[in-house]
Amino acid sequence: MKNLNVIIVGGGIGGLQTALALGVDGHKVTVLESAKEFLEVGAGIRVPPNSSRLSNSWGVDFSKIKKSISLGNRFVDWKGNILADCPYNDVEEKYGAPYYLLHRADLIHVLEDAVAKAENVTLLMDSRVEAYDYEAPAVTLASGERLEADLIICADGIKSAVRNTINGSPIEPQDTGDVAYRVLVPVEPLLADPKTRHLVEQPWAVHWMGPEAHAVGYPLRGGELYNIIIDITHATDVGRPVGEDEWRSQADNEELVKRFAEWCEPMRKLCTLTGTYLKWRLADFAQLDRWVHPSGKVALLGDACHPMMPYMAQGAAQATEDAGTLQAALRKFDNIPEALDAYQTQRLPRAAYVAKNTRILQEWLHLYDGPERDRRDSLMKADKASNPIFWSYTPRKDWLFAHDAKDLEAGEDEVFPKLAGLPAPEARIYNGKLPDTELRQQFRSMKAGNKLKTHL
Ligand SMILES: Cc1cc2nc3c(=O)[nH]c(=O)nc-3n(C[C@H](O)[C@H](O)[C@H](O)COP(=O)(O)OP(=O)(O)OC[C@H]3O[C@@H](n4cnc5c(N)ncnc54)[C@H](O)[C@@H]3O)c2cc1C
Ligand SMILES: *[C@@H]1O[C@H](CO)[C@@H](O)[C@H](O)[C@H]1NC(C)=O
Ligand SMILES: *[C@@H]1O[C@H](CO)[C@@H](O)[C@H](O)[C@H]1NC(C)=O
Repeated sequence: MKNLNVIIVGGGIGGLQTALALGVDGHKVTVLESAKEFLEVGAGIRVPPNSSRLSNSWGVDFSKIKKSISLGNRFVDWKGNILADCPYNDVEEKYGAPYYLLHRADLIHVLEDAVAKAENVTLLMDSRVEAYDYEAPAVTLASGERLEADLIICADGIKSAVRNTINGSPIEPQDTGDVAYRVLVPVEPLLADPKTRHLVEQPWAVHWMGPEAHAVGYPLRGGELYNIIIDITHATDVGRPVGEDEWRSQADNEELVKRFAEWCEPMRKLCTLTGTYLKWRLADFAQLDRWVHPSGKVALLGDACHPMMPYMAQGAAQATEDAGTLQAALRKFDNIPEALDAYQTQRLPRAAYVAKNTRILQEWLHLYDGPERDRRDSLMKADKASNPIFWSYTPRKDWLFAHDAKDLEAGEDEVFPKLAGLPAPEARIYNGKLPDTELRQQFRSMKAGNKLKTHL
């Protein structure tokens, strides 16, 4: 289809990329963003190979960003022993682009630049959408202004106001039991110490794994900053809806220093360097029944329809794929409902599969020491479906990185590679059968400053 009038609600990474993708195809796109200006929150963001290739094709200029190129994922236990490396040295050759480690603010900047240059895209800030007319389709802004279009894409994030209506039944984001701390730390103290120097100089995404917590660290901007995301279990009876005031809170490093007092030296050092930062409640939900309103004119995209834990570093990448598939579908079909149907058919199961695997990783990454942890450590060494690390089984890695979002045949009768199972119930942290000991309660309330008995 040509020259559609498209409204995109939400100017996050998902909404902006969709606008760019549809703009280069000649559609006239208006992005409505409620914020007055972009929040430069967040820290690092990992951009896999096909994701940057898609963005490039829409005029996003990665050459302007100071990047680090990931050597791969390194898994280390909480005492500092390397358990397994999952190298990315074949990524550029095999999948056509490197795996980038970026500062989220840098990515937002190049997206803003690209949008400013895109002649077919208009971005309206301070424009909150308050009501939808699904049949017209049209939106009404907080100002009372009504805007009509041929197609409306709702990229309004995890708290999407329209998801329930589009899905046909209510679905609330559920507490996953984990909170995330996203922090940037200065590199000078890390470089000065021979025990942590390699963290900055060798751009692995290092995963430290221990009881009820894990952390992922990697350098940004070619080693000017170090990014660390710390994910901690705060509750193990998962599934509660997240309350309005619970999404994020301020915290300081005293809490982290105590919580990780028994971990290896690099982790302890990183905790002392964190200062103050935001804690984010991690939420997701089981897959939606549909992403497209029955009118066939309004569809969901990005976190609004597939929020996931950051454990696969795929939140933004999946939204980028959404944009690529939508672009391809609008090219191929000559009516909007058919295009949206093809978009949903391809995207919904793929995003749900990735989200589901973040829950599997959550269990394996947070195990206590014991027989199941030992079993995990040996499973992690083999290129087999039972390997709990997603990327360490080649068919899964290829499935993730070699995917062509613009190939609409890719989703039909797709066979998904086998995921690893969950740990044994008696070792499982979340809704499992692990006894709730005082030690575990201590960890959760983060009063873990004293010497802890760490074997159950
Ligand atoms: C702090 C932070 C750090 C992250 N780090 C990573 C990372 O390292 N790697 C990764 O892959 N992912 C990361 N993510 C997740 C990733 O950013 C998202 O998965 C991805 O950007 C897709 O988001 P989105 O565009 O769908 O939604 P969002 O980014 O949530 O954007 C939604 C936008 O819609 C706007 N909006 C909402 N309601 C309305 C309305 N009624 N009218 C108009 N506008 C509205 C909001 O203001 C917002 O700008 C992070 C997320 C956050 C918040
Ligand atoms: C903008 O849209 C027109 C058609 O409406 C198209 O010819 C043109 O290539 C588009 N511009 C850009 C920069 O993609
Ligand atoms: C994604 O990667 C595969 C394999 O490298 C390639 O065939 C395909 O064209 C890529 N898609 C995009 C959009 O770059």
